[in-house]
Amino acid sequence: MVAPMFEHPEIEGGFRGRKIAWGFSGGIAAFKACQAMRLFIHEGAEVRAAMTEAATRFVGELTVTALSGAPVLTDVLEPSQDALYGHLDLARHAELMVVAPATADVLARLAQGMANCAVTTTVLAVRCPVLIAPAMNVAMWENPAVQRNVEILKSYGRYHFVGPAAGLLADGDVGFGRLAEPWDILEAARGVLAKKDWMGRKVVITSGPTREHLDPVRFLSNPSTGRMGHALARAARDRGADVVLVTGPTNLPDPHGIQTVHVVSADEMLEAVNEAVEGADAFIAAAAVADQKSARIEPQKVKKAAAAMTLALVPTPDVLATVAARVREWKERPVLVGFAAETESLVENATKKLREKGLDLIVANHVGVGAGGFETNVNEAVLVAEGAPVEPLSLRAKRELADAILDRAHRFLRERS
Ligand code: CTP
Repeated sequence: MVAPMFEHPEIEGGFRGRKIAWGFSGGIAAFKACQAMRLFIHEGAEVRAAMTEAATRFVGELTVTALSGAPVLTDVLEPSQDALYGHLDLARHAELMVVAPATADVLARLAQGMANCAVTTTVLAVRCPVLIAPAMNVAMWENPAVQRNVEILKSYGRYHFVGPAAGLLADGDVGFGRLAEPWDILEAARGVLAKKDWMGRKVVITSGPTREHLDPVRFLSNPSTGRMGHALARAARDRGADVVLVTGPTNLPDPHGIQTVHVVSADEMLEAVNEAVEGADAFIAAAAVADQKSARIEPQKVKKAAAAMTLALVPTPDVLATVAARVREWKERPVLVGFAAETESLVENATKKLREKGLDLIVANHVGVGAGGFETNVNEAVLVAEGAPVEPLSLRAKRELADAILDRAHRFLRERS
């Protein structure tokens, strides 16, 4: 069986079946835009492209056709092309139009509402949002005429921008002008497409493992990568929430637009969450907190000993249970969501945790079986809430699971108000 696209280690899902129109204009960044378009396709999107005449000089029409798996619109006046794949057909089906790379010339023509090439004609004909990724020389980008065109487009509300990024440009100059990285274009697209049902809400999320040090160089921990918690944080941000992410040590970059608090131990995590949870509408505990810590942290590195050693362990605070107990008396307390990693009796153990910790919702998953869990991009789970049927969430990308969890948590908020 062919593995679904979303099982690819870098694929997050969320674009399956989404219809994207892509406009290429003529700049050297067109080759990088091909990689970005490919990333959307890997994520499951259906992409159809339009190219300006200049764009076809930088990357061949055949390249874009082969990558997108669909004919490319280059000439709206060519009857054979329009019959096969006209601009209105391209525009009508799009849920999002991406213009990458967008040259200074295309920005100017778009700001004027011109329809004098395949790309500008398609942009004018779409009703969906348009995400523009400019790429040009730094002096051109800084030119007041270009900046004015960007402001004009932004003022319409339908045009969104990603980048340009700063760095070394193809012409040797250094500064703003680089096409945004493919991943950043994808992230921006997620943000544009997401429903904004968490707008005005504050969400606190824990993520990653904790480390409980024995001495300065050794610690107790677990293999959590933080992907689930970070995916939740980014999904909540894209849906409009004000997010505080309290994370143990991970290799993941801090997500843009999210207040990220770095902690190491369970004690530090509890302190950070206690501070962040004031005024929160939801608290989601996705961290894999170590349950035990050493009774004593040695200030110096412990030397090798010939004899056997015994380590005295004491429990760490349960961050979720402690916070749940604290907020219980609040007039407007946050919705409380926990995870339960179980190797047996999934629903029974999750229900027990739900009651003992006083939660609204538990996301329970079987660890140690199947494809999901630690160190993967996918997970499957069941949602357990008091007085409601258990809701199974089949194997899917963690990002898609994050959205399903946010959907359910949002229902609690709605029911309350
Ligand atoms: N949790 C927490 N602080 C801890 C332990 C767990 O905040 N010290 C949170 C986790 O973030 C998760 C939930 O509690 O949302 C359940 O975690 P899990 O490890 O499944 O359960 P435990 O409560 O640790 O119980 P056990 O290990 O016995 O299954």
